[in-house]
Amino acid sequence: MWYHYIFGVILIFTTYFVLYYFQVQSSSATNVLIYSFSKKDQSHRHTVIILAKTPSVRVLKHLNALVHVGVDAFVMCDEQPSKYTNVTNRLLYVHNESLAEYGLTRNLVWDRAFVWLYNQTSLDYVWLMEEDVTWTNVHHIVDFFDIYTNNHADLLSRNIIYRNQGTLGWMWWPKVFLKILPEDKWLASLNMISRVSRRLINAHQYYVRKLFSEQKKLNLTQFDNNYYHQEFLIPTVGHMFNLTMLIYDHSKMDVFFLALTENDIRESLAFGKRIFHPVKHDSPLLINATSIRNRN
Ligand SMILES: *[C@@H]1O[C@H](CO)[C@@H](O)[C@H](O)[C@H]1NC(C)=O
Ligand SMILES: *[C@@H]1O[C@H](CO)[C@@H](O)[C@H](O)[C@H]1NC(C)=O
Ligand SMILES: *[C@@H]1O[C@H](CO)[C@@H](O)[C@H](O)[C@H]1NC(C)=O
Ligand SMILES: *[C@@H]1O[C@H](CO)[C@@H](O)[C@H](O)[C@H]1NC(C)=O
Ligand SMILES: *[C@@H]1O[C@H](CO)[C@@H](O)[C@H](O)[C@H]1NC(C)=O
Ligand SMILES: *[C@@H]1O[C@H](CO)[C@@H](O)[C@H](O)[C@H]1NC(C)=O
Repeated sequence: MWYHYIFGVILIFTTYFVLYYFQVQSSSATNVLIYSFSKKDQSHRHTVIILAKTPSVRVLKHLNALVHVGVDAFVMCDEQPSKYTNVTNRLLYVHNESLAEYGLTRNLVWDRAFVWLYNQTSLDYVWLMEEDVTWTNVHHIVDFFDIYTNNHADLLSRNIIYRNQGTLGWMWWPKVFLKILPEDKWLASLNMISRVSRRLINAHQYYVRKLFSEQKKLNLTQFDNNYYHQEFLIPTVGHMFNLTMLIYDHSKMDVFFLALTENDIRESLAFGKRIFHPVKHDSPLLINATSIRNRN
């Protein structure tokens, strides 16, 4: 099965690379979707879900740091967390059976997070971040969230691209066409750190149900699982509902498609970057990422 793994790794690299490439190619105004500012309840704390395979020590440290600075943070795990720890009630899990009720059979952590969110109707806005997102100091990520406290965009993403001649090469576009999600609505977004609104979560639930009934109509072999790929589904359902979506200010962010090395991080720090993805190692340069003492 090792070749599956290698193939998977290549797929992931290609995805990141392609989205990265398109971002450079098409960073003109047409690429930025419309958004509007309006007032939002100031007392609203930020809610964050870290999407993690397992509740590793590093993940728990990030969780702890976020909670410590007043963020309502959770970890959605891809495996039953009680297998690993009894540490906290902020560890979430959604059973494969709950996913199957929506026809979600790939059993991925992104799907678990959304199925959980479907029921959390009191949450208006939620930041989602993959477990390999980190920062120099937890205050930097909070500062970043703060920028958007009064912003009502339904999706805040690192990048959003339209399907057009220049982006046809993106590997996750579905190959089978469905009337319920017409091609001219297709979008792709880069969501390793992203914020979604209740409206977008509801749109997601609506279309996941629709896709399930399409799936039942067609033979399973004909169904194109790219429809469920989060980078496709999230912005596309938002587009279907005419929601507002925005590429956030990523000037303090270093997001790459390969794991950042210590050298990459050092260079980025010199350029004023404070938020990083993906960091897979315990970086001495980011030693204060989960420290809860000061604001350096
Ligand atoms: C968590 O608590 C349960 C019940 O007290 C116990 O059976 C289990 O072994 C604990 N798990 C871990 C990882 O400590
Ligand atoms: C859930 O699904 C995944 C992937 O199909 C599988 O590896 C895992 O064992 C399942 N979990 C349970 C508790 O059945
Ligand atoms: C969401 O709520 C429905 C209805 O109460 C329930 O059947 C379902 O199991 C819940 N899903 C999750 C993931 O908790
Ligand atoms: C699904 O497969 C069955 C048997 O292979 C076939 O009879 C049926 O026509 C197929 N349905 C569709 C929608 O292609
Ligand atoms: C979105 O906007 C289009 C064009 O204005 C309109 O036809 C469509 O009904 C809207 N869709 C929704 C779900 O509001
Ligand atoms: C971590 O924080 C300590 C205490 O403020 C500071 O002296 C040190 O330079 C910081 N280390 C890094 C790598 O930022």
